[in-house]
Amino acid sequence: MTALTLSTAAAPGLRADAIVIGVAKGAGPRSGDLVVAPGAEAVDKAYDGKLAGVLETLGASGAEGELTKLPAPAGFKAPLVVAVGLGAEPGAKDADAGYDAEALRKAAGVAARALAGSKKAAFALPVDGAGAIGAIAEGVLLGAYSFDVYKENGQAKNGARSKNGKAPLAEAALLGGKPRDAAHKGAVARAVAVTEELNRARDLINTPPNDLTPAIFAGIAQAAAKEHGIKVQVLDDKALAKGGYGGILGVGGGSAATPRLVKLSYTHPKAEKHLAYVGKGITYDSGGISLKPAGHNETMKCDMSGAAAVFAAVVAAARLGLEVNVTGWLALAENMPSGSAVRPGDVLRMYSGKTVEVLNTDAEGRLVLADALWAASLENPDAIVDVATLTGAMMLALGSRTFGVMANDDAFRSAVHEAAEEVGEPAWPMPLPEHLRKGMESQVADIANMGERMGGGLVAGLFLREFVGEDITWAHLDIAGPAFNEGGPFGYTPKGGTGSAVRTLVRLAELTAAGDLG
Ligand code: BES
Ligand code: MN
Ligand code: ZN
Repeated sequence: MTALTLSTAAAPGLRADAIVIGVAKGAGPRSGDLVVAPGAEAVDKAYDGKLAGVLETLGASGAEGELTKLPAPAGFKAPLVVAVGLGAEPGAKDADAGYDAEALRKAAGVAARALAGSKKAAFALPVDGAGAIGAIAEGVLLGAYSFDVYKENGQAKNGARSKNGKAPLAEAALLGGKPRDAAHKGAVARAVAVTEELNRARDLINTPPNDLTPAIFAGIAQAAAKEHGIKVQVLDDKALAKGGYGGILGVGGGSAATPRLVKLSYTHPKAEKHLAYVGKGITYDSGGISLKPAGHNETMKCDMSGAAAVFAAVVAAARLGLEVNVTGWLALAENMPSGSAVRPGDVLRMYSGKTVEVLNTDAEGRLVLADALWAASLENPDAIVDVATLTGAMMLALGSRTFGVMANDDAFRSAVHEAAEEVGEPAWPMPLPEHLRKGMESQVADIANMGERMGGGLVAGLFLREFVGEDITWAHLDIAGPAFNEGGPFGYTPKGGTGSAVRTLVRLAELTAAGDLG
């Protein structure tokens, strides 16, 4: 990963490949003009105060995501200036307002990605405190991410330059950062811990399904748990059969790669609260006997994104030493058609004892989650949050960048939504309309795994609710849209696995540790 340093150096004397500055769309009296953001004063001065005009000539507007390169002014050690758009200048209404953390995160990410192949860049973005330092650090570390281990001469973990891809930016100096300031150092340390785990979640999501079976995923979780002092327990197919986990076994039954349930327990001696995170970990979703048509299964290696997010969040909580107990449940299975696969029409006896008529084997996520939610419930945590690439319907409703938040408690749903927005993860509250429960009534079992087509994301949420212990606060994040980016990279989000929900889960753990939640 890119090495980060806090630097008080002045831009002109810095030995670097590039200096990154921020530009914005002017507000108030400067409305309509491009403005150079604070932090870039030295660069502007070397252009005789005419940098904004130079950039406008080059076509810059200050829009979010925009990147303009220009030669550095005479006398600068670095040869290149990279101007990134921050969107609207703050302060039209409130003169004291600084740049929004998410604008900084995105701009830093755009610059870090564009500087792939470079050794060192100095980031001279507007810094008004530790919050801005943390946001820029996150943006750099997330934006510099690349996945090319499967390319010829793919870059090794040591960051060597590869034939096909450029190595990620090796070093970033954050100007305006104070190397001896505890808050600044803490912000960088937090950003490093969270983004390292988030980027590992991206790696897992991007890893092709022939190389990431449930057993392999469980092994990776075991190794990480050992490294970070997290207790880990893995149930293999034999243990799942003995325990009566009919949902996970049913879904995993069609694959030669047998299912696993992984339990990760991070505990803190001073913790007063206990959170349970449950992740959908379908390492490949072919649809099973209700096979998905071509065009719908090419990206289904991403169907373990929920489990990857839970895994990353538990490890990040441990690395940050948060004063809260966090249990992560990874429900891992591969959904494949075969002679041993679950059939449409089969009835499964779930871990909770309820029976489910499987009407569509492609609605498999709710089956593995049902067992894991019940297992989580038996420990009676203060709250459960599950994360899943659960329904195409949620993508139709909210598009590909926003996840849906459902819950059995309005206040908790709002808290989760707020935490998501706070860390820069677009989310939106969705209802659980009672009338949709009727569509899942079964002739033979307690419930069917399918209901009305309309509102399919909410139907799935209602199904999950049946497997949450009575009186346990629960929220469900349907990340089917944002988990995997099929379009081009944007902000600090790469193509492919995004690590959606990791930062929301970490924030929820922090808020719970601080006593600010529940
Ligand atoms: N993994 C899919 C949902 C999905 C679709 C995730 C697209 C990411 C992108 C899930 O298992 C699924 O197949 N859901 C079905 C449910 C239906 C059969 C009730 C769906 O959404 O079509
Ligand atoms: Mn499916
Ligand atoms: Zn699925």
